[in-house]
Amino acid sequence: MRKLIAGNWKMNGTSADLPQLTELADSHPNPAVDMVICGPATLLSRMAATGLSVGGEDCHTKVSGAYTGDISAQMIKDTGADYVITGHSERRIDHGETDALVAAKTEAGWAADLHVILCIGETEAQYRAGDTLDILRSQMDGSIPDAATAATTTVAYEPVWAIGTGLTPTPDEIADVHAALRAYLSNRFGEDGAEMRLLYGGSVKASNAAEIFALDNVDGALVGGASLKAADFSPIVTALENSL
Ligand code: 13P
Repeated sequence: MRKLIAGNWKMNGTSADLPQLTELADSHPNPAVDMVICGPATLLSRMAATGLSVGGEDCHTKVSGAYTGDISAQMIKDTGADYVITGHSERRIDHGETDALVAAKTEAGWAADLHVILCIGETEAQYRAGDTLDILRSQMDGSIPDAATAATTTVAYEPVWAIGTGLTPTPDEIADVHAALRAYLSNRFGEDGAEMRLLYGGSVKASNAAEIFALDNVDGALVGGASLKAADFSPIVTALENSL
């Protein structure tokens, strides 16, 4: 499985930001890793037209129907996208998404032939209480469907307290968590679990990327703020390439 560097633009980006993607594509015409930018639904078809791999940030569980304001995985695929994020903490927390809903959205993504980047992560209170691994295992139990394979699914570990805060776990903490996630995935999914990509996310930037990518069981990153500008994201892509 190739390593994966993924950006998540969240609720950012209008037409004026599209040149960032052209700049990124021009800087990495032939990346040695998979590179994707997940963006707002309003921009996806224009993002895909740049030739970059793009993804949605969320999807509905159904293909179509009376769900005002929602976007289906098929609609995301139709824009030219190849990926979708499910279970981001900003969906779990701000929109009350349960593990069961995240599992259903993940299956919807697969059904539309999208590769799913499925997010898990503990809150600061859970981290402080020493509950990180219990929380992550229970999120994986509930939100990763049994049919997950390495080809269809990537798991992103994003500690909620590290998102947009400039805080990160120590390298040892990331390595310990990723080792535990790998053990869980291998145990549950066998060979596919051993191969399934594990991303770290939360305040990844050019200055800490190389150190994080050097860790065992870190197969790339999911990057928020530092993915908005090509000048910030490009060195992170290069750091992942250099880790190979
Ligand atoms: P930041 O990189 O801005 O901390 O965001 C991480 C994230 O939530 C990516 O999905």
